[in-house]
Amino acid sequence: MASSWPSCWLLALSAALWGTTWAADGGQQQQPLTIGKRPNIVFIMSDDQDLHMDSLSYMPHLKKHLTDRGTTFSRHYCTNALCCPSRVSLWTGRAAHNTNVTDVNPPYGGYPKFISQGFNAAYLPLWLQEAGYNTYYIGKLFNAQRVDNYDSPHAAGWTGSDFLLDPHTYEYLNATFQRNHDPPISYEGQYSTDVVADKSYGFLDDALADRDSKPFFLGIAPVAPHCNVRHHEKVNGNWTENSATMSPPVPAKRHEHLFNDIIVPRTEHFNPDEPNSVSWISHLPKQNQTNIDFNDGFYRNRLRSLQPLDEMIEGVISRLEDAGVLDQTYIFYTTDNGYHIGQHRFQPGKQSAFEEDINIPLIVRGPGIAEGMVTDVVTTHTDLAPTLLKLAGAELRSDFDGAAIPLASSDILEAGMVRPEHINVEMWGIIMSEGKYGTVVYQNHTYKALRIIGEHYSFLYTVWCNNEHELYDLMMDPYEMKNLYAHEHSSAFEFRPASRHGGEHTDEDLTEEIFPSTSGSTAHTTNNNTTAAPSTLKHIISRLDSLLMVLKTCKGRECTHPWEVLHPEGNVRDLHDALDEEYDHFYETQQRRVHFTKCEKGYIIESEGEVGAKAWPVDEAGVRVGAAWNHPVERQ
Ligand SMILES: *[C@@H]1O[C@H](CO)[C@@H](O)[C@H](O)[C@H]1NC(C)=O
Ligand SMILES: *[C@@H]1O[C@H](CO)[C@@H](O)[C@H](O)[C@H]1NC(C)=O
Ligand SMILES: *[C@@H]1O[C@H](CO)[C@@H](O)[C@H](O)[C@H]1NC(C)=O
Ligand SMILES: *[C@@H]1O[C@H](CO)[C@@H](O)[C@H](O)[C@H]1NC(C)=O
Ligand SMILES: *[C@@H]1O[C@H](CO)[C@@H](O)[C@H](O)[C@H]1NC(C)=O
Ligand SMILES: *[C@@H]1O[C@H](CO)[C@@H](O)[C@H](O)[C@H]1NC(C)=O
Ligand SMILES: *[C@@H]1O[C@H](CO)[C@@H](O)[C@H](O)[C@H]1NC(C)=O
Repeated sequence: MASSWPSCWLLALSAALWGTTWAADGGQQQQPLTIGKRPNIVFIMSDDQDLHMDSLSYMPHLKKHLTDRGTTFSRHYCTNALCCPSRVSLWTGRAAHNTNVTDVNPPYGGYPKFISQGFNAAYLPLWLQEAGYNTYYIGKLFNAQRVDNYDSPHAAGWTGSDFLLDPHTYEYLNATFQRNHDPPISYEGQYSTDVVADKSYGFLDDALADRDSKPFFLGIAPVAPHCNVRHHEKVNGNWTENSATMSPPVPAKRHEHLFNDIIVPRTEHFNPDEPNSVSWISHLPKQNQTNIDFNDGFYRNRLRSLQPLDEMIEGVISRLEDAGVLDQTYIFYTTDNGYHIGQHRFQPGKQSAFEEDINIPLIVRGPGIAEGMVTDVVTTHTDLAPTLLKLAGAELRSDFDGAAIPLASSDILEAGMVRPEHINVEMWGIIMSEGKYGTVVYQNHTYKALRIIGEHYSFLYTVWCNNEHELYDLMMDPYEMKNLYAHEHSSAFEFRPASRHGGEHTDEDLTEEIFPSTSGSTAHTTNNNTTAAPSTLKHIISRLDSLLMVLKTCKGRECTHPWEVLHPEGNVRDLHDALDEEYDHFYETQQRRVHFTKCEKGYIIESEGEVGAKAWPVDEAGVRVGAAWNHPVERQ
């Protein structure tokens, strides 16, 4: 076997060290939990909050109480950049293709789909209750949990709950809440996030009063900084995206004056001159100043709408402190998906597989967790249910598609060697635009994407339902401006690097990135031979495609260890290993390719091409040789 273990191990070790950076004053650690005492968990989730437009910088209490006193997971990702599918994945620990809750409304998503898929009998709060926890939830649980269906059936698993209900969930000044089993109540004229804060303090009091007999889980999910949504009428008997008016989030009176000079960060990919992505994105019109001004205002209102949430963080922490349980409580801060405004010429919205929409905040503070630490181990929302259950001391489930996130700094360092490097991002349906201009909604917004991050490489690979492809090399192109997958060859699997501007990015750079220590003796050696260029991309794309082929239908361990499906012997553990030339033929000619036969609005598996990847080693005819099949990879 050409793949060499020592270098592989060294890579992993250096990855572990590389994978973790400490803040200047880092190294402090919260006291570990007293043995035998189970921790409380407070889980705060904002809605549509970006990491890449700097929203965290405008939340001083979050910084003081969580970022500075806990660990930041800078490479945390959602696996579906849309509220409801992302939340269902989070609370069930399953990928969207295994929940089949893929939209915000029926027939493919929303609360009714969560119910019909049977998850009201199999999701986190129930498991936490079984583990002996009191469970409380305030705010938005899922979309399409409505004033007329909240009780048929009621969301299970909560000791106390006060849900925001559609169609008023996103009305900042006219929310409807529904407490425990009581009927819904309108809070017309009251500021939604302040109501959420008051209700949270109330449940926290209940939880603290019972703390001696049971630890607690408290979920707090205000709508900030989601846009304001006002529903007027049903379409064909249902509330849908077409029955709503979206407008910028509404700030609380006391915050209206803030941030008057702040604008969306003008990064390289903000309203670019030359968008170079798949066809529909590259055809988006460049935004004029009127449009940009409106979007900057939208952005400022997002930051303002985060202030009551930031104040609530202070409120929660001080109550935990006063009750003397702060050092026995884990506090998580995250959101459901990210957000974009103007990048790639997008109007305000989410749902893409670009970094803005998928790489999201995750900050954790608690017993044994390092203070002021930033780690870049790769983690996803499907890892959170296992993480929370593990903290609660409960058994993990075999149907989890994620794995518990290492929280203590020693575990994070160890994890640098074994954590997955991939994120499987999925999307079905249409893309919505939440601003005032260019409300063009693209209908065929169904794709499968693979984000992969190693020490020497960082790619986004996307296959769309019209079989267009994208490949971005984020090492060279952090703003995902240059699609390396040539459009003109998108139907065939023969690659040449797409024409690039300026020649600053060559395939030799790619080779150097991935094989930094190769010195001329391997097949991956760089030379000036022009034929070397296309073949390097071809090598990479073939591996990424096969990995995506496994991930698009993975279940359980296949999702966290997809290379094991391709290489059951266990000797290939990452993209670097898989790029060994020994596997060129296997990946480039013997594997199936990810493709679609039709664009659908939901997970219609018949339209998503073949299923299952081949396992190494295979003979010339593509039949597996050697060891017996040990994985159900051929699942057709
Ligand atoms: C607020 O919502 C209620 C329904 O809960 C509705 O009757 C009322 O008209 C709304 N008020 C405003 C100002 O939109
Ligand atoms: C309306 O919702 C129901 C389920 O609540 C669903 O069966 C039906 O297909 C939906 N209608 C439309 C037009 O989406
Ligand atoms: C700017 O663009 C928007 C959206 O395309 C358009 O509606 C508007 O008329 C334009 N304004 C000017 C001044 O060109
Ligand atoms: C590559 O090209 C440069 C000039 O462009 C030349 O100096 C060098 O010798 C070439 N290397 C090989 C391996 O052909
Ligand atoms: C360069 O490419 C040609 C094909 O165009 C091939 O015959 C030759 O062996 C290559 N040389 C090297 C050094 O890779
Ligand atoms: C969207 O997908 C459908 C079904 O695959 C196809 O008929 C239609 O032409 C596509 N539309 C666009 C704009 O690509
Ligand atoms: C997902 O749900 C949709 C709508 O209910 C259904 O048509 C489809 O077959 C389901 N997909 C899978 C793979 O079960």
